[in-house]
Amino acid sequence: MKLTKLKKIPTTPTDPRGWIAVKKVTNGRGLVAVRSFRANQLISEIEGRVVTAEEVWSYWKADPRLGANCIRYDADNFLNPEGHIGAFANHSCNPNTGLVKRGRRLIIKAIAPIAKGDELTHDYSTFIGADDVWTMRCNCGEKQCRGTVRNIKKLPKATLARYRKFGIVPDFILKAR
Ligand SMILES: C[S@@+](CC[C@H](N)C(=O)[O-])C[C@H]1O[C@@H](n2cnc3c(N)ncnc32)[C@H](O)[C@@H]1O
Ligand SMILES: [Zn+2]
Repeated sequence: MKLTKLKKIPTTPTDPRGWIAVKKVTNGRGLVAVRSFRANQLISEIEGRVVTAEEVWSYWKADPRLGANCIRYDADNFLNPEGHIGAFANHSCNPNTGLVKRGRRLIIKAIAPIAKGDELTHDYSTFIGADDVWTMRCNCGEKQCRGTVRNIKKLPKATLARYRKFGIVPDFILKAR
């Protein structure tokens, strides 16, 4: 009988194109660029399962980490990125990426030139509507750190305007009341 080598089972998800790796960073594990990217370049899709707000509430009770990982997907639903790279995307108050919604897909887009080895971060507030209750104490370490990450309406006006120019704030977040 011919024995084949056992494949190593990955313990952390990998980016399908191999452009991003999951590594230890300041805030736990995070996404690190395996190559450089231009500003405005589309980097990778955040995959996952679309779940209702009720399901997200049920995660909070079972494992708050799972609830915190969910990303607003539209007016009524969230994306649960568990098992995919999106579960490791950290926040920064001075991010180098943002998320763009293209049809049903959520894509990580560079909003600054990114060098190989840089951590990829986005500003969580761009996907937190006024009707979301989640906040987070921030440890991004940037000089413009806001201290607490809150919903889109609490962003400084100039920051919001800049993000909107990059197309990284979806309409359903701006419209949420
Ligand atoms: C999508 S996960 C990112 C992966 C996470 N760092 C890990 O190791 O599992 C989101 C969680 O990471 C942590 N996190 C991300 N950005 C952060 C930041 N700027 N300051 C403090 N904690 C952060 C928070 O615990 C947050 O709920
Ligand atoms: Zn911060």
